[in-house]
Amino acid sequence: TTPRKLAAGNWKMNGLEAQLAEVDTLMATHTTPVCDILLCPPATLIDRMARRIGDGKIAVGGQDCHAAPSGAHTGDVSAAMLADAGATHVILGHSERRADHGESDDAVRDKVAAAWEAGLVPVVCVGETLEQREGGSTLAVVGGQLQGSIPDGATAATLVVAYEPVWAIGTGRVPTTEQIAEVHDFLRDRLSQRMGGEGNGVSLLYGGSVKPSNAAEIFAVENVNGALVGGASLKAGDFSGIIDAL
Ligand code: G3H
Repeated sequence: TTPRKLAAGNWKMNGLEAQLAEVDTLMATHTTPVCDILLCPPATLIDRMARRIGDGKIAVGGQDCHAAPSGAHTGDVSAAMLADAGATHVILGHSERRADHGESDDAVRDKVAAAWEAGLVPVVCVGETLEQREGGSTLAVVGGQLQGSIPDGATAATLVVAYEPVWAIGTGRVPTTEQIAEVHDFLRDRLSQRMGGEGNGVSLLYGGSVKPSNAAEIFAVENVNGALVGGASLKAGDFSGIIDAL
């Protein structure tokens, strides 16, 4: 299988009702998109965004979910609730969740299982800090996260992996194409070892300061099948520029 191309936007904790105007613009611009498009707004906007898109060609995702299907977990949202609101995907193990909420690989793995249970495709994030890169442990770190954060049983259709170097997120600092290639080739190898042929079909996204101006160069790297875009996904014009480069 050839991995599907995916342009994913992570709005993080940004966006009130008015922000949905950007979705209208995106839909008008990409009526027959050449790649999959996914937008992950804050949980409060998932239902409204999904309704606004209707049968349009943009998928909607959450940014996190709880590992339990329901219960006494004040403030949390289950995978089934995301699906019920119109989501088809969920970002899991983003470095901001790992840092702000102490999410371990074990916790992320349980969430991935919960996402599958609810029929969602998880976008599992891995990535090293600057300290880890400078210490030469990048591949060990992302390899460990990949192994630990994904349960057995993944298929190409039920898993997306995003490589996001923590030091490149929101900083304007982008790895060299050689650095991206090294990690993406490594992730592909690891997935193939673990999943056999299915591993060759998993979409591997790069994330961290992707902009219209650098997207083409990043997408030209082998084993880069798309991007997980933060800041530049908030403006339809910028996100369109990235989609067009894919
Ligand atoms: O999930 C998205 C990433 O954290 C990248 O964010 O594009 O603002 O650097 P950024």
